[in-house]
Amino acid sequence: MVSLLLYMAILAPGISGNDGQSTVLKPTSPTIHNHESVFTVPPDADIGMNILPNINDPEAVDPQKVCPGYIALGVKSTTTGLTANLALAGPACNVYGNDIDYLTLVVGFQADDRINIQIQPRYLGRENETWFVLPEALVPRPDDSSRVTESSHPLEVSWSNEPSFSFTVTRKETKNVLFTTKGSVLVYEDQFIEFVSSLPDNYNLYGLGEVMHGFRLGNNLTRTLYAADVGDVIDANIYGNHPIYLDTRYFTNEKGGLVYAANATDKTAKYVSYTHGVFLRNVHAQEIILQPSSITWRTLGGSIDLYFYNGPSAEGITKSYQRSAVGLPAMQQYWTLGFHQCRWGYENWTVLNDVVDNFAKFEIPLETIWTDIDYMKGYRDFENDPERFSYEEGARFLSKIHGNNQHYVPIVDSAIYAPNPEDAADAYPSFDRGVEANAFVMNPDGSPYIGAVWPGYTVFPDWVGAVLNGSGAIDWWADEFIRWSKKIAFDGIWIDMSEVASFCVGSCGSGNLTLNPVHPPFQLPGEPGNLVLIYPENFNKTNATEAASAASALAAQTQTATTGVTSTTTAYYRTTPTPGARNINWPPYAINNYHGDLGVHALSPNATHHGGAVEYDFHNLFGHQILNATYQALLKVFSGKRPFIIGRSTFAGSGKWAGHWGGDNESLWVFMFLSIPQALSFSIFGIPMFGVDTCGFGGNSNYELCSRWMQLSAFFPFYRNHNSIGSISQEPYLWDSVITATKKAMHIRFLLLPYMYTLFALANKDGSTVMRALSWEFPNEPWLANADRQFLLGGAVMVTPCLVQGASTVDGVFPGVGNGTVWYDWYNSTAVTGVQPGQNITIDAPLGHIPVYLRGGNVIPVQEPAMTTADSRNNPWGLLVVLDKGGAAAGILYLDDGESLTPNATTWVNFSATIGSLTARPHGNYMDKNPLAYATVLGLSHAPSKILLNGEVLDASLWKYSKEKNLLSLGGLNTRFSKGAWSSSWNLSWE
Ligand code: NOJ
Repeated sequence: MVSLLLYMAILAPGISGNDGQSTVLKPTSPTIHNHESVFTVPPDADIGMNILPNINDPEAVDPQKVCPGYIALGVKSTTTGLTANLALAGPACNVYGNDIDYLTLVVGFQADDRINIQIQPRYLGRENETWFVLPEALVPRPDDSSRVTESSHPLEVSWSNEPSFSFTVTRKETKNVLFTTKGSVLVYEDQFIEFVSSLPDNYNLYGLGEVMHGFRLGNNLTRTLYAADVGDVIDANIYGNHPIYLDTRYFTNEKGGLVYAANATDKTAKYVSYTHGVFLRNVHAQEIILQPSSITWRTLGGSIDLYFYNGPSAEGITKSYQRSAVGLPAMQQYWTLGFHQCRWGYENWTVLNDVVDNFAKFEIPLETIWTDIDYMKGYRDFENDPERFSYEEGARFLSKIHGNNQHYVPIVDSAIYAPNPEDAADAYPSFDRGVEANAFVMNPDGSPYIGAVWPGYTVFPDWVGAVLNGSGAIDWWADEFIRWSKKIAFDGIWIDMSEVASFCVGSCGSGNLTLNPVHPPFQLPGEPGNLVLIYPENFNKTNATEAASAASALAAQTQTATTGVTSTTTAYYRTTPTPGARNINWPPYAINNYHGDLGVHALSPNATHHGGAVEYDFHNLFGHQILNATYQALLKVFSGKRPFIIGRSTFAGSGKWAGHWGGDNESLWVFMFLSIPQALSFSIFGIPMFGVDTCGFGGNSNYELCSRWMQLSAFFPFYRNHNSIGSISQEPYLWDSVITATKKAMHIRFLLLPYMYTLFALANKDGSTVMRALSWEFPNEPWLANADRQFLLGGAVMVTPCLVQGASTVDGVFPGVGNGTVWYDWYNSTAVTGVQPGQNITIDAPLGHIPVYLRGGNVIPVQEPAMTTADSRNNPWGLLVVLDKGGAAAGILYLDDGESLTPNATTWVNFSATIGSLTARPHGNYMDKNPLAYATVLGLSHAPSKILLNGEVLDASLWKYSKEKNLLSLGGLNTRFSKGAWSSSWNLSWE
């Protein structure tokens, strides 16, 4: 909760929202409901050894200078790969661990777009009894059953022993080296592996998350992968870990060959791009160092299990990566695409009910209301506070909202309260049942590992033990959900703190349970005296009065905070390798972990799983496996329905179980911008159900930021407004301008829901992406390599949001115009003209307006908006036929019941428009009874003389044509489609 410590916000009861805009309702000022704590965990309980990260250590030894590398022996080539033994080429360097003398190398041409390079320790018959080999039960290996021959593969792998073993991956078509360790040594130790590849100048790499950074990672960045409870600190290691990158290279065709052009800006030249992907199947703490001409990959264990994806399109790689390696993203229930309102600080059912009623009062669609930890009894999972969130009142409230086709999602935390053994009133049956089931992580001596989170001292479910050793965590977890679901009718689950966070170092609760419940070692936002005010950038210009009082409160507090600070000399803790042993708590190589010592604010590396595995080897999987366990649990709770889960910590493959929210951002403009690169990265990672805390989590939002953000997030798959306790309220109905802006953007979102749902169906079917980077859809425009202030939803909708405080215009490009792409303004249906390739155009974007464009060549099914997705699904259909330059368009629509895991009826509708005609061809057995009400054809340059539906002339009163806009509008079609728009094939033609 580092970010919480940074932005603790002043409680500002009744603060008015702004100077310039009227505040519609008085923001609430939630109070924090803490347990009756008598003891606060001392702040120093969460301080570990003072660790100097290796990358910042001037005395750090460079393994490349001291290690001998390896020599390949006994190389055997087969038609589908290569095997070899590798032997240490000289005296061991033991630089950050114990060198492994012998390794095995296996190169496999596994599929026609993928190769695998695997380097593992060779123990002469004992290979599998080690923590080097990542168990497939935890992270499956890509399917390698369809081996292909090296000669027919687009990639080539070569190796050399000069001066020591190196390997090189080359794209045959371009002769371009994609990855080569030539010129570096391979370092392979029990706690440290390093391999280095050179990269071309100004390379374009994407991925390697989770990180708050621009989409293109740049050529000077260290990415540390170690799951940490760190609230969106820029460039730091935060919640999730995805060791995959895409590398896009642009070329010009010169002198009869392809010449590397980096991300060139010459808009007159013709470029092509090739993208390849690199995935390291390794769950250990990692550091990936991007330097101007190289990438250095370091891991603190595991093996080298590298996958190279040929691409050459980004879409091709993400599809293949998801299909072959990590799994296809979970299909979402239709309702999950509606709007979600959440906050930390909804104090009771009455407050929740008021919020729901206010949405209705202001006629803003609300699909789902969420509760944060406030609902819990003493912050314990699976128990509601009997006073504020009683089951009885909850049942009444939930039956009301369910009756309105609305939904409810509560938070479930990762740690489990360990009750005070001396206090019978503190009994916690969920804990007792977990103990009985051997469900919790242990200390090395077999005693329970007891850390601290919100409720006090806590234990932690042992997912690794459950998967590898059959201990009881997963079954116990499902059983707890089943029991709780009988008391509270939730519709989905929000998993938090899953890195896994613990507010103290080590098993700090061992021997201390009689103090429970205890207070965390820091003040929670909103607790008395916790006074810091953070407002959006330039708040003083837009909200002068509040800004002035905030500034003086902040100044007073800063003075207090600095009093008594004394200077100390810093001594850093370094360890050296111990022969034959690993130092898992303080590995010799110190990663640049945000919290420093690996055991700070997390389970200690020596925490022990059932069966003996240690946390050190599986730390990055807690958040992934709790999603697996929750998915299994919800399958049992909602038999046959798709589980809806949003999780905080993720790993490669989490998308097959859950979506993710970019947790704990701040109410600052920069974080609204960063949500776009973050979302695009999660498209690479195969987690399309992504969104952030809209209007900002920490600090106080204001009308301007919240208007912009409510509009931007309307185009993200997961659309949720979430706020920290202690911050002023930010529900969209609180400010006039936000109400208007929200309704406008939600109207578009609702129209596009069938399109968005279809994108999810396609993602679930073949791994295609939902939110897309401009460079993916327009791969021949090098100037888009950095583009992350605009994005596409699917291939047809481009969003160019205003991300700058005070601005009323936004600059944006219109990709593809050099090759004939036509863009149409969503709002006036006219084509954008007079734009040059790559040209930045200034677009009007007054507050309340988000520029949206439709790409010529697409047929987009739309459905009339309503207050909920269920009601919208019962409304008539429309079609936007957006013609390309040649008068053609195509599209697809997916339909099912919107909730079943395996729907018994599905329908796909294919649309195609060619000059003068539009055809819809449904195939499948899902019956949708809603008629087609209208169709709009954009980009029709000639006025039709007549229009025919299935060969029958349509009455002229049903259509009109605008020459000025090149727009054909057909309406009042309902009666022609009374059996349903997609009950059979039809054709519309115009002459
Ligand atoms: C941390 C989460 O990131 C945040 O969204 C939540 O509000 C707090 N925990 C309290 O549960």
